[in-house]
Order: sequence, then C-alpha cells, then structure tokens
Amino acid sequence: MRFIVTAGPTREPIDPVRYLSNRSSGKMGYAIAEAALAEGHSVILISGPVSLIPPSGANLVQVTTSDEMDDAVHAHLAACDVLVMCAAVADYKPATFSTRKIKKQKNALTLELIPTRDILASLTRPSPEFLVVGFAAETDDLEANAQKKLRDKKCDIVVANDVSGNESGMESDENEVTIFFRNGEKEKISRAPKKIIARALVKILSNACEKRLTKKT
Ligand code: CTP
Repeated sequence: MRFIVTAGPTREPIDPVRYLSNRSSGKMGYAIAEAALAEGHSVILISGPVSLIPPSGANLVQVTTSDEMDDAVHAHLAACDVLVMCAAVADYKPATFSTRKIKKQKNALTLELIPTRDILASLTRPSPEFLVVGFAAETDDLEANAQKKLRDKKCDIVVANDVSGNESGMESDENEVTIFFRNGEKEKISRAPKKIIARALVKILSNACEKRLTKKT
C-alpha cells in the first residue's frame, strides 16, 4: 500500500523572526511512517519542522506553513492509497506578514488571525477506494468531538487522543488512542509507547485499505 503520512506542527510566520505554532513533536506521525515501512508499505512523509530523524526508506517532504503542507498533500494524493493526517496543522495564520521585524511598543499589540485552509475538509478523494484518516486531539468530550470530525471532514477513520494530560498526546513518548470508524465501530488502543501504538494502527489501516481495494476488484 502507498501511504502519505503528515506529521509535526506547522509554523505561520508573523514577521522575519516570529511565528505561530503548536506543541506537536511529530513523534506519532514519524512512528506511523516507520511502522508502515516496516510492514512493507511505501511512505511519503510530509513533515512540518521537527527535531526527529526521518525513518530510512521514507520519501521525506519538508514543509513549514499550513499552505505548504496543503500543497504537498495535494501534489502526492493521486499516487497514494491512504492519507494519514497526523500533523497538527495550525488553525489560524496572521492576516498579514510583516516583512520588517515588528518593534516592541508600550501598548498592547493586536494580531489579526485568519483561518488556514482545512486540508482534510477541503480534500477531493482521488478515487472512491482512497482511505482518509484524520486525527482528533481533544481535551474534552473526546468521543463527541471525534465523531463530529469524522462527519464534518468526511474521514473514513478518526484516531482520537486526549491531550489534556502530560502522559499522552503532544510531546509525550506515549499515547492512548480510540479509533472511530465510519460504520460506527470503535476500537481502543491502550496506553503504550507511540511506536507500539503506531504498529497496531498501521495494521488496522492496512486491513481497512485492503478491504476497500479488494471490494473494487
Ligand atoms: N487538519 C487539517 N487542516 C487544518 C487543521 C486540521 O487537515 N487546517 C486536520 C488535522 O491534521 C487532523 C484533523 O484535521 O487530522 C483534526 O485536527 P484538530 O486540530 O484535532 O481539529 P480542528 O479541525 O483543528 O478543530 P479544533 O482545533 O477546533 O479541535
């Protein structure tokens, strides 16, 4: 199977020295890419800025902003079977980029932010068999929010994790996820190192992908 995995944060520039970003480390996405490669799949890894060594064998595409990630996903979509949208894409970006460094002022500074493009929600599937996998990082109402993302972003699968504590989710080496499927089924993977979660996840995704591809023939 041919995977596209997105990973890490995006950075939305404010001026030449500042940007908006988030705490994503990229560890979950990189672990998924590594696990997919270990299972013999091909992987295009579209990565925001992270300090991780990419798994050998991955076709690495490095991006910085949400717009660059959007372009990279669209450029590679048609050549793949499954998109795993693990990146923590910024939801907002500055309305304008100041080419000069913004100088400190005595008064409060207001930044105008505009929504970034939602890569998942705006996606056109290259084929009906193509598998779209979204992530949901939540601090509250995990199931309700994940189900909403599954519907609103027209995903086949949403992998949800609770990011309210320090022991799971962003920056941590461990995670605990619940996988929600379009048909209403759900499956929990208990707390474990991200590499172990990734292996279980890749098995579930390749089974789902296989089912679709064999249905077609
Ligand atoms: N996502 C995306 N494009 C964006 C923002 C998010 O494709 N501009 C994707 C993420 O990669 C993830 C899914 O949408 O697979 C859910 O991301 P998340 O940050 O949990 O949710 P949001 O849609 O940003 O909503 P909220 O922040 O309100 O929870």
